[in-house]
Amino acid sequence: MASLTVRQLDDKLKTLLRLRAARHGRSMEDEVRVILREAAAQADRGAGERLAAAARPKAQASSRAAEDGPRVVLIIGGGIAAYKSLELIRRLQERGARLRCILTRAARHFVTPLAVGALSGEPAFTELFDPQSEFDIGHIRLAREADLIVVAPATADLLAKMAGGHADDLATTVLLATDKPILIAPAMNPQMWAAKATARNLAQLAADGVGVVGPNFGEMAERGEAGLGRMAEPHEIVAAVEGLLQRGAALAGKRIVVTSGPTQEPIDPVRFIANRSSGKQGHAIAAAAAAAGGEVILVSGPVNLPDPPGVTVVRVETARQMFEAVEKALPSDVAIFAAAVADWRAESPSASKIKKRTGATPSLKLTENPDILASVGHRKTARPHLVIGFAAETDDVVANAQAKLTQKGCDWIVANDVSPESGIMGGDSNTVHLVTASGVESWPPQAKDRVAHLLVERIAAALEGAER
Ligand code: CTP
Repeated sequence: MASLTVRQLDDKLKTLLRLRAARHGRSMEDEVRVILREAAAQADRGAGERLAAAARPKAQASSRAAEDGPRVVLIIGGGIAAYKSLELIRRLQERGARLRCILTRAARHFVTPLAVGALSGEPAFTELFDPQSEFDIGHIRLAREADLIVVAPATADLLAKMAGGHADDLATTVLLATDKPILIAPAMNPQMWAAKATARNLAQLAADGVGVVGPNFGEMAERGEAGLGRMAEPHEIVAAVEGLLQRGAALAGKRIVVTSGPTQEPIDPVRFIANRSSGKQGHAIAAAAAAAGGEVILVSGPVNLPDPPGVTVVRVETARQMFEAVEKALPSDVAIFAAAVADWRAESPSASKIKKRTGATPSLKLTENPDILASVGHRKTARPHLVIGFAAETDDVVANAQAKLTQKGCDWIVANDVSPESGIMGGDSNTVHLVTASGVESWPPQAKDRVAHLLVERIAAALEGAER
């Protein structure tokens, strides 16, 4: 093979090369190496593109060509759910996203860089110290040249590394080096999800503003195992991605007050009256409203959930405390009452523990709690533009919700069937009817996160319509 030295190049080329090398802080020889490497990679990529194009339906290929779509870095962790990430790549591309994919070492046991590269249309990134990709792009550019970073599946190990700020491979280094929003889709065995260490790491990540989608309840890869730990479905992750990318858009400049969870009404210092509300739907609404750019104040009764990212949380126990906190949080553009407020409280809670005495069953005298929704709905001054209540019903769901709409002076009621057979109380999905003065819309059963996003979309559209 003939050899070529810089000295043999013509003067004009030499000057251009010198300028380019100086700009990049490299020697002229190194600059030539980079140029040749780029040219070779380009040729390779062309082949990859052709492979990807062949694997893609035509419409998808053309939508992926859109140069102005959001740039998403997808980090694929090492779990059996990694196979779903291949579908996630396609789904994100269908929405016009441009993808760069990183595979952890463990992920390569489940999916290959070739498959990921062929689907995403760019070689998959795997190594932190790979001179090839460091010259081409480098981990800092990977971290910065993105609108969003998605980790799916996010394994227990990846969560722990993220929470601890580790940077010992390409994935964790990119996650630490980014200033862009991060969304994780955890996937692991239910025991690992329930482990205290995982809960600690997740709480840390939520406090750091990392968005979380899932996990869902369902069958595990291990035969006969079921529980909470299944990765969210690709369409749910896409919805969460869209929510995060809209941050600062639909509800920008709007103040939204949300109530969530149960209330606890003391009987004595150790006993209380409460209900089965988990707070999942209310918290999901607060998260979706914040993701859409709203300034969200979440007034929450006692729940076992992490604080949604980007939301101001006011913790309360009783209905009267919730009422006070809502009054303090007003005025607002929108108020959403998803809490299951106890209708009654003990009239005179005992200051000391009520002792059991043979033959003497204590009687409990109840008194009514303030109706927070009705009070805000019927306000004459500083009433939010949109007051939305929930109706938890076990019978005649829609008829009861319609009655509540007028009784409580609200604009919309989100009605749901909370009979034990529905599995809605404490569950991850919900079947709701949106009841307004102009009619009833019945939404199909779907994840509570999805209900929250749809509701937020409707709220944004209603506010926009009102402003016009
Ligand atoms: N609500 C409230 N304050 C209360 C009771 C309810 O703000 N003291 C709100 C809830 O947050 C929900 C709506 O009112 O948005 C309806 O709650 P629900 O429990 O379904 O209705 P109730 O008014 O309690 O009527 P009932 O229990 O008889 O169905």
